[in-house]
Amino acid sequence: MKIIMAKHAGFCFGVKRAVDAIEKSLENSQKVWTIGLPIHNPQEVARLEAMGLKVANNADEIPSGAEVLIRAHGEALNVIESLRSRDVKVRDMTCLFVRKAQDYAKSLSEKDYHVVLLGDKNHPEIKGIMGHAVNENNVEVVANEAEAEKISRYPKIALISQTTQREERLANVAAILIRKCLTLHVCNTICKATAERQDAVKELVTNNDVDGAVLIGGRASANTGKLRDIIKSHNIEVLWIEDENEIESNLDWFKNKNTIGIAAGASTPEWLIDKIKKQIGVRS
Ligand code: F3S
Repeated sequence: MKIIMAKHAGFCFGVKRAVDAIEKSLENSQKVWTIGLPIHNPQEVARLEAMGLKVANNADEIPSGAEVLIRAHGEALNVIESLRSRDVKVRDMTCLFVRKAQDYAKSLSEKDYHVVLLGDKNHPEIKGIMGHAVNENNVEVVANEAEAEKISRYPKIALISQTTQREERLANVAAILIRKCLTLHVCNTICKATAERQDAVKELVTNNDVDGAVLIGGRASANTGKLRDIIKSHNIEVLWIEDENEIESNLDWFKNKNTIGIAAGASTPEWLIDKIKKQIGVRS
């Protein structure tokens, strides 16, 4: 069986930076915490926990004197301030692209814009961006064009995107919002790494005559979910797996396939991709 890798796959710049920082902190201390899972990849989280990382459900669980690493998704300002006031050492590893979205939310809400965030309202990145606006009541989250249609009229609207959105959807939502205000400020905060992985997957399934695509990534990973949607939209069969054990339970999927593509989300570590590639090689 021929295996073709997507040109861009695995850890993005922001995730790599955060994971490297966690590893470095763990070399010096065993009191290193994150609020929520550091990344949406259970295998990588388990590796970091085995090194000593502690994962808190919320900021209140972090004890004084501990060190907390703010993950790449970012965190609301009031959470960071309350940690600092409790003698917790904060190392902010918010991805620079997410930081840009947070800064826009802060500065534009200060200028009385009604802030519309395009993304998933339950995603920590969106919650963190919301938590940078001066008044959270003046922020709304829309997931798509239909929800954007429901936004009321305002004199000024700022549209800010979750970093994992597609540009096409951002443009569609902007076209809807421009009818609802006098001034529309569109912040294209979609990150390049996301677009690169999405374009690479599109290229993988359209130019290579593949019979199917194996997608490697955590099931809670928003950017991996987007890659799955892209593969499916090209009518290519996709097998979404988290680890090499899932190859064994899906051997039928590989039957009668001559060429398969492999893609991976931005939170999938290199070591896991290699392991899975090897396992597919053994089984094919
Ligand atoms: Fe940052 Fe983009 Fe990765 S926003 S965390 S570089 S997917």
